[in-house]
Amino acid sequence: MHRNLLIFCVAVLFVGAVIALSIRSVESQSDMVQRGKYLVDAVAACGYCHTPRTGAEYNMDMYLAGHLAGQRYPSYNLRSMMPLDIFILTSTKMTAFSGPFGTSFASNLTPDKETGLGEWTEEMFIGAIRTGLHQGVEGNRPILPPMPVKHYAQMNDEDLKAIWAYLKTIKPVKNEVNPPLNQRGRPY
Ligand code: HEC
Repeated sequence: MHRNLLIFCVAVLFVGAVIALSIRSVESQSDMVQRGKYLVDAVAACGYCHTPRTGAEYNMDMYLAGHLAGQRYPSYNLRSMMPLDIFILTSTKMTAFSGPFGTSFASNLTPDKETGLGEWTEEMFIGAIRTGLHQGVEGNRPILPPMPVKHYAQMNDEDLKAIWAYLKTIKPVKNEVNPPLNQRGRPY
């Protein structure tokens, strides 16, 4: 009798511990997402370039969806603009940038599978930020200005993981962003 009671008590304690631990891990996952949101919106200002604008305001329906498909972008003329000290021209939505490096278009950071980061892994994301190379793959083209990779590369793994965890939770938006162009206006 005593033995059965003891087994019962141990079982109850065990189940309780498992429940408590899983609640904690759900909580710490949501803490991580919250931290990611804070870093993306308040500290690193990712939307400054990755969320297109309507006039002076952000178009929140397209939150972090990048340069809108088919939207116009400025072109840079090295010979006439360099002497005037002009380095970067930006589109009215502030998502496309032209300079001596060519033209870059802010990527779609939403988890859309075809046009966003849906198929990316955490490793690719952290790799891209750490190395400054497209998708973090050695031999790939560098990530172009004005994406501040050199600064973000100094973040610790915990913060980059939190940013990634948050990006996975935002609304997926289908928006095919132009590939970058070289100085001659051709794909890199
Ligand atoms: C000052 C503008 C700017 C800010 C701020 C910015 N980005 Fe970018 N980002 C860009 C541009 C432009 C590109 C496209 C560069 C290219 O195609 O080479 C880009 C590309 C990317 C890419 C794709 C990299 C690749 O491998 O092709 C990721 C991922 C990314 N940004 C994440 C972020 C995150 C996360 C933040 C905030 C922590 C952020 N960006 C803030 C401008 C910006």
